[in-house]
Amino acid sequence: MNGLKAPLNNTALGIGNFSAIMPFLMGNCHAYFTLSFLFCIADETPTRVGFLGLGIMGSPMAHNLIKAGCDVTVWNRTKSKCDPLIDLGAKYKSSPGEVAASCDVTFAMLADPESAMVVACGEDGAASGMSPGKGYVDVSTVDGPTSKLINGQIKETGALFLEAPVSGSKKPAEDGQLIFLTAGDKSLYEKVAPYLDIMGKSRFYLGDVGNGAAMKLVVNMIMGSMMTSFAEGLLLSEKVGLDPSVVVEVISQGAISAPMFSLKGPSMVQSKYPTAFPLKHQQKDMRLALGLAESVSQSTPIAAAANELYKVAKSHGLGDSDFSAVIEALKVKLKD
Ligand SMILES: NC(=O)c1ccc[n+]([C@@H]2O[C@H](COP(=O)([O-])OP(=O)(O)OC[C@H]3O[C@@H](n4cnc5c(N)ncnc54)[C@H](OP(=O)(O)O)[C@@H]3O)[C@@H](O)[C@H]2O)c1
Repeated sequence: MNGLKAPLNNTALGIGNFSAIMPFLMGNCHAYFTLSFLFCIADETPTRVGFLGLGIMGSPMAHNLIKAGCDVTVWNRTKSKCDPLIDLGAKYKSSPGEVAASCDVTFAMLADPESAMVVACGEDGAASGMSPGKGYVDVSTVDGPTSKLINGQIKETGALFLEAPVSGSKKPAEDGQLIFLTAGDKSLYEKVAPYLDIMGKSRFYLGDVGNGAAMKLVVNMIMGSMMTSFAEGLLLSEKVGLDPSVVVEVISQGAISAPMFSLKGPSMVQSKYPTAFPLKHQQKDMRLALGLAESVSQSTPIAAAANELYKVAKSHGLGDSDFSAVIEALKVKLKD
């Protein structure tokens, strides 16, 4: 199943016929999905939800689950990031394994392949609390081989696994407008669909584990290259005496317009990079995408060149800035 935030299947979820109130609810999307969710938890949807990893993305995603009335248990390596969610009613456990043991389904939003592995499969990791009937949904951006390793460890416990990396950044995470790129156990996908619909605006089911990761890496590889090309254009325009703010405006009205350019352009022109998507994660995604391309001998020269710029920016201490700070790498280059 794929596509836009579609109405849930009433019959499959045992909701019964409430078509009379459907038009009102459809006009109020959040109420519709919250109510759908409340109806379906009376049926087969798992009710206790764990959330591991409360960074830029994980915190607002868990927040939205709590706001929708879900029974959420959280864990984060840095405990203080749990506190605002505990204040909102979340429960807390002191390890990923304890969260998984106390929940029906556990989501994980970790930085990279290494952290996703250690949280899922390390000592006191989620796998240690998994058992038949439970599910693990990894929404981190990792490579296919890592996702398959985690899948294997979770499956050994008898639990189900779904990879579900997201497209969308901090604001879409806050607004419940993410796009889920899922693959793995179809039955788990169907069970957690109401949760995905609280956190996101659409979801794609892509088949075998690895396909979600590959889709995410292809999308972010394109995005990373687009950003470096945009940065080059802004700097070139300035050097030849144009106003880069006008370049941003011109682009926004033409065929190459993109929300990303309109969103990031004005702050890039002012050399400001408020972090929505950390540059270190964009570089990680370029690296993983290049690895994916290498695995099938696909030539990706543009992405390879862009990756070099992200590496330069990272080596200049910009890893925690927004990925639009990659423009600074070109300024550094020009000075060299
Ligand atoms: N930000 C975006 O726009 C965006 C959009 C789509 C996808 N993503 C992807 O989503 C994932 C999370 O991104 P984010 O922006 O939320 O990143 P973030 O703010 O850097 O958060 C990373 C999370 O991973 C945890 N973590 C890191 N290393 C760990 C380790 N060794 N053991 C345990 N926990 C560890 C962090 O814990 P601490 O709090 O203790 O550091 C934090 O909870 C990444 O894979 C990223 O590529 C991000």
